[in-house]
Amino acid sequence: MKLYAISDLHISHPENMRALSEIGRYPDDWLLLGGDIGETVEELEACLKVLTERFARLFWVPGNHELWTTTEAPGAARGEAKYHELVEVCRKYQVLTPEDDYIKWPGNGPACTIAPVFLLYDYSFRGDAVPRDLDAAAAVQYSQSKRVLCTDEALLHPDPYPDRAAWCRARVELTEKRLAAVEGPLVLLNHFPLREEDADLPRVPTFVLWCGTRLTEDWPERFPIHTVVYGHLHIRRDKRNAVGQRFVDVSVGYPRQRAAGRSIDSFLVEILPGSAD
Ligand SMILES: [Fe+2]
Ligand SMILES: [Fe+2]
Repeated sequence: MKLYAISDLHISHPENMRALSEIGRYPDDWLLLGGDIGETVEELEACLKVLTERFARLFWVPGNHELWTTTEAPGAARGEAKYHELVEVCRKYQVLTPEDDYIKWPGNGPACTIAPVFLLYDYSFRGDAVPRDLDAAAAVQYSQSKRVLCTDEALLHPDPYPDRAAWCRARVELTEKRLAAVEGPLVLLNHFPLREEDADLPRVPTFVLWCGTRLTEDWPERFPIHTVVYGHLHIRRDKRNAVGQRFVDVSVGYPRQRAAGRSIDSFLVEILPGSAD
């Protein structure tokens, strides 16, 4: 029995949906889905239909793409309402989300609690690319002047929050309370990296603004984290810090970012039991 992870399947691209439908069967294994499966409720459902038949249990967190409102249709769900529509689809397929109780890994290896979390971003990641003294609006303008503007600015609505940073703060606060009650070790699944150093984008450095929040920078010390699983960057990385906590980007990404013919199976990253440590 293994715990695998994958994210950023982006099945709105037909090549990725085709590749996903060819994934093998893992009847004893669990799978963490790190968001950016697609952009619509229908795409999430299409993905879950495939994967619930191939794995014993699934966990899902939203990516920014899932939270987009891609239609101008009156009454189309925005912001938190879109998130809840996605959560409802997961419930239909018994897929665990950030709205469910955290559960313990029953397999070999460390007895981790698995916590799918939804935290979003608040423009506080700056790296070396965006001056730290700019407020969020000025920082976005600065990035735009470098021709980098995340589509979220047009499609990811923060309703009912005044802005995405406020939504992020609310999510961080409620998640901190829940994590404080967990005894370690913890596998944390979030679409965005927890640490600013992991939001390093050599080709589009100012995109760092849309990659996380410094509110989680001290979480590896505050919470008994074993592994942080994330995606979003489409840059697969697998790092450990000085005390052995693992930070792993499990993105698949867009078809142009993937070698032709590479199977989705080959993107699955084993989280547990993982290597002995
Ligand atoms: Fe993505
Ligand atoms: Fe993303």
